[in-house]
Amino acid sequence: MDILEKFKDYLKHNELKASSFHPYFEEALNYMLQAGGKHFRAQLLLGVVSAVDERRFEGALAMAMALEMIHTYSLIHDDLPAMDDADLRRGRPSLHKKYDEVTAILVGDALNTDAFLIAASANLSDEIKIKCIKTLARNAGSSGMVLGQAIDCHFENSPLKQSELEFLHLHKTGALIAAAFELGAIIGGLKDELAHELYKIGLKLGLIFQIEDDIIDATGDEASAGKPVGADGAKNSFVNLLGLAGARSYKQRLIDEVSGAMSNYDASLRDLVLNLIEKYLKG
Ligand code: IPE
Ligand code: IPE
Ligand code: MG
Ligand code: MG
Ligand code: MG
Repeated sequence: MDILEKFKDYLKHNELKASSFHPYFEEALNYMLQAGGKHFRAQLLLGVVSAVDERRFEGALAMAMALEMIHTYSLIHDDLPAMDDADLRRGRPSLHKKYDEVTAILVGDALNTDAFLIAASANLSDEIKIKCIKTLARNAGSSGMVLGQAIDCHFENSPLKQSELEFLHLHKTGALIAAAFELGAIIGGLKDELAHELYKIGLKLGLIFQIEDDIIDATGDEASAGKPVGADGAKNSFVNLLGLAGARSYKQRLIDEVSGAMSNYDASLRDLVLNLIEKYLKG
């Protein structure tokens, strides 16, 4: 099994439990987490661990699941009417469409909270887990992804300057992708400075990721995206602010920078990142 298959298998065997007499809360809790998606962040985290110290791979699976839970909660909330009002996600009706808004809000809350229980219970040393939990919280919370989402929504109809655009996307998307890189480095036992270097490369990878997401919104189709396209309207997307050609050339420049930076690392780490770029971000 490759890394992606191992992760999918782990998710399938670790459905979340919330047994009660609620008619569908437990089902809703697992609905979007088990709906697939690319698992880009989990693959990045696990790829680093397997490149650096394969023995920690089993413990890393729980941390990758925690990260995917946080990411999935962010998408469930992102689709709510108060945010992007999107009806489709991962090829399925979005959670508030399948169930109801209250359930979507609460499942998001639960995934966010339960992620930290799973992280804290991973089969890794306490020292590693505390570092990981800090990284998760710092990048997901009020100075990470949530801040990016707040800016995205608040300035939905007011164009930002290029530096503000980057700030937005570095937080909204860059933070969790960079966190995946750093978590892999922490679990793999790399030195703090190296973990921080990888974090910085991860921020650029996150920008590339969001540019590609914005290009998919402008040029892709709903069936292959598994979510609505043409939905970015007046948002501060890279395509809206730089034009399609501008977004593509900016993305290529960042890909060149990341590829250059990765050439300083050993082949397994470099190939992991280049393969993920090739598979998901070339467009
Ligand atoms: C979508 O994330 C939201 C962004 C940050 C662009 P993904 O494109 O990783 O969504 P899934 O997990 O594959 O569904
Ligand atoms: C959302 O960005 C990123 C999150 C942190 C959830 P988008 O709004 O562009 O994500 P999609 O296109 O709906 O997946
Ligand atoms: Mg959004
Ligand atoms: Mg959205
Ligand atoms: Mg998008």
